[in-house]
Amino acid sequence: MSQLFSKHLFCIFILYSSLCAAADTTLTWNKQGAMQAERYVAVDSGYDGYKGITPEQLGVPDVYDFLNAAYSGDIAEVQASPDTCKWVSASNASGDVVGYASFEYDSSAKEVYIRQLAIAKEYKRQGIATKLIKEGIAQYPAAKKVVIITRKVNTPAIKMWEKLGFKQSAYMHDGYDANKYIGFEKNL
Ligand SMILES: CC(C)(COP(=O)(O)OP(=O)(O)OC[C@H]1O[C@@H](n2cnc3c(N)ncnc32)[C@H](O)[C@@H]1OP(=O)(O)O)[C@@H](O)C(=O)NCCC(=O)NCCS
Repeated sequence: MSQLFSKHLFCIFILYSSLCAAADTTLTWNKQGAMQAERYVAVDSGYDGYKGITPEQLGVPDVYDFLNAAYSGDIAEVQASPDTCKWVSASNASGDVVGYASFEYDSSAKEVYIRQLAIAKEYKRQGIATKLIKEGIAQYPAAKKVVIITRKVNTPAIKMWEKLGFKQSAYMHDGYDANKYIGFEKNL
């Protein structure tokens, strides 16, 4: 009986901690800045996300180098395109960056492209990505559609897009291998 009580208390504690974590997260919108902390968090987060997946499965020579190049490339492009891109950082109560998301808006198509999204490994599964995405989309009141591309091996991301109401779609960048990537979209 007391074991059952402790188990319930533990579950309530976990639920409470998760709710508090997302609620305590501060979001900061940015158009300029070095994004060093965001880069560090993203590479570490991606590395954690792909653990158990081999470089061969990912189709890259080295997972760390691939992630470093991907996030550095995203950050450089976002910083070079302040008219169309912006990013939002999530920070914990101490002010440490624990996640970021970057967005690109096509005003003629009224389409938001979610470029990158990463949450520090200790902060995953606490609703922070959901908060970043929802608040990110809310920045574009004229948008009619949101699009994203993810790797087929990225099960956590796919589950998240589905939970957020995204549907699998034909959206894809030129030159992307459809065997490796999957597009998602959501009409607003
Ligand atoms: C994918 C990622 C961004 C999710 O961030 P997160 O803050 O943990 O996501 P949330 O807490 O908002 O989760 C929302 C929902 O997504 C799904 N989800 C998230 N992570 C999951 C996992 N590891 N396994 C299964 N479902 C998962 C769940 O449905 C979850 O809701 P629930 O916790 O109530 O069940 C995070 O794992 C990450 O940073 N991964 C590495 C980088 C990356 O893959 N970026 C996405 C590129 S498209």
